[in-house]
Amino acid sequence: MKSLVILISGRGSNMQVLLEAGLQVDRITVISNNPHASGLEIARKYGVETMVIDHRAYPDRQTFDMALAERIDACQPKLIALAGFMRILSDHFVQRYQGRLMNIHPSLLPAFPGLDTHARALQEGIKIHGCTVHFVTLQLDHGPIVIQAAIPVLPYDTEKTLAARVLHQEHCIYPQAIRWFMEDRIKLSENRVEVINSNVHEIALYSPGLPE
Ligand code: GRF
Repeated sequence: MKSLVILISGRGSNMQVLLEAGLQVDRITVISNNPHASGLEIARKYGVETMVIDHRAYPDRQTFDMALAERIDACQPKLIALAGFMRILSDHFVQRYQGRLMNIHPSLLPAFPGLDTHARALQEGIKIHGCTVHFVTLQLDHGPIVIQAAIPVLPYDTEKTLAARVLHQEHCIYPQAIRWFMEDRIKLSENRVEVINSNVHEIALYSPGLPE
């Protein structure tokens, strides 16, 4: 049985595109650490099994992570997808699911790990920004990269406009990465990911545009 667990904390727009992606899975379970996450409501509308494990009910990170792992293991997932899950996971947790724990991050890693990626990107004046799907490792927002999407930063961009265009790309690449994983097309060796039979064309993106 192919089971997918999606961990969320809030809005759940990435979760929603995963639910809409028609992934070849037998079971999807959405778990939130936040009982008020609006993504929970969306998941229920899609008729997907939901669970809340409120981190505030646990004395420390270790015990929360243990409770979370227990619930995850009961689902026997092939993959655990972090989709806006705003908790730092303990080393023990990350090691337990090594190679089957994926995350989506709103920057072109390894640039801008952590929070406020769009504001920091604007502050640095970078011309190309984007998002990354990667396997989770012990180092926060690092780990083998599965797929990235890049967009130009435009002169009139604000944090909000940039975030919206990056989010649109997130919604394209996360289902793609998970589809590849579910089809056993991802080969992970050390820090590199190879996608078997990927139909990736040679595309270069330049910003600003090259002179005529
Ligand atoms: C996304 O930007 C994702 O990259 C980051 O958190 C945000 C979650 O948004 N990890 P949503 O809850 O999926 O709408």
